[in-house]
Amino acid sequence: MTDIAEKIKFFGRRKGRTIRKAKSYLLDNFLPDVLFKPEKDKKIEQYFPEKKNKYYLEIGFGDGEHIAELAKKNPDTGFIGVEVYKNGVANLLSLITGIKDGNDEILSHKICISNDRTDNIRIYDDDVRLMFSLIPDNSFDKVFLLFPDPWPKTKHSGRRFINERNIKELARIIKKDGILQVATDHYVYKRWTLEQMRNNEYFVWTAKTSDDWRNPPADWCETKYQRKAIREGRKPVFFEYKRI
Ligand SMILES: C[S@@+](CC[C@H](N)C(=O)[O-])C[C@H]1O[C@@H](n2cnc3c(N)ncnc32)[C@H](O)[C@@H]1O
Repeated sequence: MTDIAEKIKFFGRRKGRTIRKAKSYLLDNFLPDVLFKPEKDKKIEQYFPEKKNKYYLEIGFGDGEHIAELAKKNPDTGFIGVEVYKNGVANLLSLITGIKDGNDEILSHKICISNDRTDNIRIYDDDVRLMFSLIPDNSFDKVFLLFPDPWPKTKHSGRRFINERNIKELARIIKKDGILQVATDHYVYKRWTLEQMRNNEYFVWTAKTSDDWRNPPADWCETKYQRKAIREGRKPVFFEYKRI
């Protein structure tokens, strides 16, 4: 374990239900092709086969629907998706290859991304805080933090991702005028995010009216947790912060 890995403790789940044959095969045989292996001072553009116009980072992509859909709509953008949860990583691989559970007959073939997609997603399958120090300054045009674990109990507030240390790292890796997009449906995390980001020396909140944070931005792709929140009667909010 590296020094930094020893200091950083992850409190969420790393694995859930048994991953079935097809997705397991993708983890073993296709993940290495799209794995993001950060190296000190290597520019983000060097991780993609060709230079992209923009670079986006999604932290905690869950089942990967948001990053998969956004990457498909934006072939000229390079995406780094980060997720600790193995089942989520496996699901994103399934979305980008089109290979679903049960497609066992094609598993002896070489796996590629589906024909209707560009090769514009790289996946980091560990805690994002472990890769921060290897990311050069001003790397990303946009960072998504969608429905982060709220850790609502006060005694767990130290586990919330939005905190002084992570805000500072995000400020370093987001370009000037770049965006930090945070979405949450939890009342504790709504208030917490506003408090942590208020009077911040790095970011300004872009909302001019309440419609700007009550409604998702244009071209929004729904996430699993967003759908869950709506089903259960909670109202998500969408806070957009601009790097100054
Ligand atoms: C509540 S889920 C939301 C998932 C997804 N964004 C959505 O909206 O459906 C939060 C996710 O963030 C991931 N996560 C939490 N902390 C993380 C970290 N430090 N690095 C990478 N992933 C993290 C968790 O594993 C979990 O899958």
